[in-house]
Amino acid sequence: MSAPPDCLHYRDGNLFMDGVDLAAVAAAAGTPAYVYSKQYISERINALNSAFAQTRHRIHYAVKANSNLAILALCKDLGTGFDIVSGGELSRVLTAGADAASVIFSGVGKSVEEIDFALKAGISCFNVESESELRRISERAANLQRVAPVSVRVNPDVDAQTHPYISTGLKQNKFGVAADHALRLYAQAAADKNLHITGIDCHIGSQISSCEPLLEALTRLLELVDQLAAQGIHLQHIDLGGGMGVTYEDEEALDFAEYGASVQQILAGREHTIYLEPGRSIVANAGVLLTRVEYTKPAAAADAPSFAVVDAAMNDLIRPALYQAWHRVMPLKEAGLNGHTPWDVVGPVCESGDFIAKSRQLDVNAADLLAVTSAGAYGMVQASNYNSRSRACEVLVDGDTFRTVRRRETIEDQLRLERNLGGDPPGAV
Ligand code: LLP
Repeated sequence: MSAPPDCLHYRDGNLFMDGVDLAAVAAAAGTPAYVYSKQYISERINALNSAFAQTRHRIHYAVKANSNLAILALCKDLGTGFDIVSGGELSRVLTAGADAASVIFSGVGKSVEEIDFALKAGISCFNVESESELRRISERAANLQRVAPVSVRVNPDVDAQTHPYISTGLKQNKFGVAADHALRLYAQAAADKNLHITGIDCHIGSQISSCEPLLEALTRLLELVDQLAAQGIHLQHIDLGGGMGVTYEDEEALDFAEYGASVQQILAGREHTIYLEPGRSIVANAGVLLTRVEYTKPAAAADAPSFAVVDAAMNDLIRPALYQAWHRVMPLKEAGLNGHTPWDVVGPVCESGDFIAKSRQLDVNAADLLAVTSAGAYGMVQASNYNSRSRACEVLVDGDTFRTVRRRETIEDQLRLERNLGGDPPGAV
């Protein structure tokens, strides 16, 4: 098994994130709580910028991975743009103080309202995923008397060799359009005064550990770029999407430096700006989900597991249930690492699929605190209120201090949107 993420270490037997004792966070904020390292996020953004320093490039942080306002503001301060997939995400990045001109809009199902919102805000580009979407964007631009910047998302039919739910660049997937179709869309867009062609785009999947499929996608895009240039359509940017993989257990993390150097080599002096849309590789290993053990249930039989029932559940972190994802579990007391019993770490939700981790050799007792690592990406953003559980709070660690950046949800928050019909006057709508 590989080492835990860099921002975590034991100091005198207690688990710290950077300069902060995580037990102090649990005492102040309660559990379950998501905790993120500002320093780690900054280092990842800086590392990616360094890896692409020889290539004209722009990082558009994929908001879907972790959309907390404090994290968006941090990304903005470090100079990234943003890749959004909804009007809600656009509102978030604008609220975080970002400039709409740094925003690109991906996704297969942009609604009229979302397109209008983005046009009025003045985003830098729509990544168009179908002919009907291109038509809709043109109509809305005409209606609002604007010119819409567009780029076509190509499905390069490259196997990203990742989990089928997060593979997006195969012709079986719903994303993008095939190369020949893309050429037709570009011709259409070029003849449309409501549209301005800015670039070309792809995103072949997530948690990709080798550069190969990403570079193959780039090579296929370049063939199209050349075909378009021959028709007089010149693009300013080439968007390679996100997808750079990280280490959860012992997977190879995608090497930013190798990726940057290879892209530079393949581009061979072309003038295009490379766009990147990283999410996971920026925030996954910056975050932990802090949780407390409520009960322990020793194995009922020799061939049955022992359960540590914790106060975090699949509604907080659905990745293990949804993708069979493996997350490291670190006791806040280092002594807890030396257990002889394998524990299944499970939540209170009424489903057998509600587990955080299986068969972990730990020394666990009721009331112990645990940190579930690599939870900074696709953790809180995929949380739900299943079982009417209120969503966790979020905390940002900055050196040796920490601040709550989202308070814990309350049952009042949950009930606010609902109406008890029995209590309404007749005729109320
Ligand atoms: N750009 C587009 C168009 C995307 O669809 C995605 C992720 C990204 C960028 C960012 O990809 P990343 O750098 O994070 O790999 N919930 C899943 C992951 C879903 C990814 C969806 N698209 C999980 O927990 O593994």
